[in-house]
Amino acid sequence: MNLDFDPETMRRMGELALQAVVDHLAQLPDAPRSNLDHAEEIVRALREGPPENGTEFEQLLRFIMHEVIPVSINTPHPSYLAYIPGGGLYPSALADFIASATNRFAGAWFAAPAASRLEANVLEWFAQWMDYPSSARGILTSGGSLANFSAIVAARKHHLGDDLCQGTIYMSNQTHHSLIKAAMLAGIPEKNIRLLPVGDRFKAIPETFEQAIEQDRKNGLRPFMLIGNAGTTNTGAIDPLEALADIARKHQLWFHVDGAYGGFFRLTDEGRQKLCGIEQSDSVVLDPHKGLFVPYGTGSLVVKEGERLRRAHMLEAEYLQDHDVPEGEVNPADYSPELSRFYRGLRVWLPLKLYGVRAFRAALQEKLDLARELYQKFKQEPGFEVLNEPELTVTAFRYRPPHGDIDAFNRQLLQAINRSKKLFLASTLLNGQFVIRTCVLSFRTHRPEIEAAFEVIRYYAHKLASQM
Ligand SMILES: Cc1ncc(COP(=O)(O)O)c(C=O)c1O
Repeated sequence: MNLDFDPETMRRMGELALQAVVDHLAQLPDAPRSNLDHAEEIVRALREGPPENGTEFEQLLRFIMHEVIPVSINTPHPSYLAYIPGGGLYPSALADFIASATNRFAGAWFAAPAASRLEANVLEWFAQWMDYPSSARGILTSGGSLANFSAIVAARKHHLGDDLCQGTIYMSNQTHHSLIKAAMLAGIPEKNIRLLPVGDRFKAIPETFEQAIEQDRKNGLRPFMLIGNAGTTNTGAIDPLEALADIARKHQLWFHVDGAYGGFFRLTDEGRQKLCGIEQSDSVVLDPHKGLFVPYGTGSLVVKEGERLRRAHMLEAEYLQDHDVPEGEVNPADYSPELSRFYRGLRVWLPLKLYGVRAFRAALQEKLDLARELYQKFKQEPGFEVLNEPELTVTAFRYRPPHGDIDAFNRQLLQAINRSKKLFLASTLLNGQFVIRTCVLSFRTHRPEIEAAFEVIRYYAHKLASQM
């Protein structure tokens, strides 16, 4: 059985797939924002055993595009304002196709040195944008969660060595749960993970960090890592990074910044000011599948003293001997838990080269402006309460009905908005209260989508209130 195809068949298959994708993207603006009706039944019908015999490509393609992809939240839709929108730039999809079809080995420098260099270039650009020195090294990961994990592993190795039991780590209670999970996976005892209360605008309070560190030291623990947020998931809050950096320095702790959502806003003048202090961190996580709009599956970690990242991940093996890496080049596997890995670099490199950084800067500034416009609309509309003035692009709001339970009303409001399929939003809890969030981050979201989104929210809020 020959698993390969002749060039003509490959071309035909590629054309069919391309046509299907382009048609799908062309009708995106008119597609429902979510389509999860009867999802359980549909999913049940999809269960099947391993297919002993093959099926025609065209039939499978139709099945994927018509029966699988549509059963979903439409995350690349211009009106997708839920969670942290993930983009999906088309050139990245082409880069993925090239990377998969050519299937170069991206784990080791020697196997594809030129490809490794493009990925290293991308990481060096990230380091420059954070004002890190040339000692910085990084890694592209599957997402922010694994990037945060490698950051904790690097900090743990540097400060604790093998003795983890007393290691203690500090972050605000608004920090993304991936960092708590990462600390647990990295072997830090759960009882040593300090989630500290936030103050004004849901930001970390530096004094509480200092008090907790001093108290833990007195109790014989070993504080080793302090984490700041460059844009929390709940509200987009930026912690006082400079003050946290001072505390980390004073107490000789590793200062990590989770910029998975917010870090790339540093490309804009406004973001540069707001994220002041990020350059003082020891490591930073940036998610290209958020702030650079590439498809899901790309996070990154950059460590200022890159050698510390290497020391935490480097291991030799007999079957990988005889391959020196020239000075200044990077062997990805030495900085990452992965060996065989997808060539993620291309899906970031290609759009950055194709559009130029200025296009991303402008798009990110547009998102900041749109979030402010949306906030103003909520402020001016009677009945709405906004819990945060957006520092980046998240706005958390709720509607105050004339009477009755506010949480229950807003739960109903969210359901009504999402059922309309004109918009898709998500909720969170702030100070124990149910709130609805909007996050403007899709490269496809522009002013008309924001205006339409506000109208949908307003319409259902007033409609529900009038039925009370
Ligand atoms: C602030 C922040 N950190 C980390 C993560 C985790 O990133 P990922 O989902 O890419 O693993 C997220 C995800 O939304 C996030 O918003």
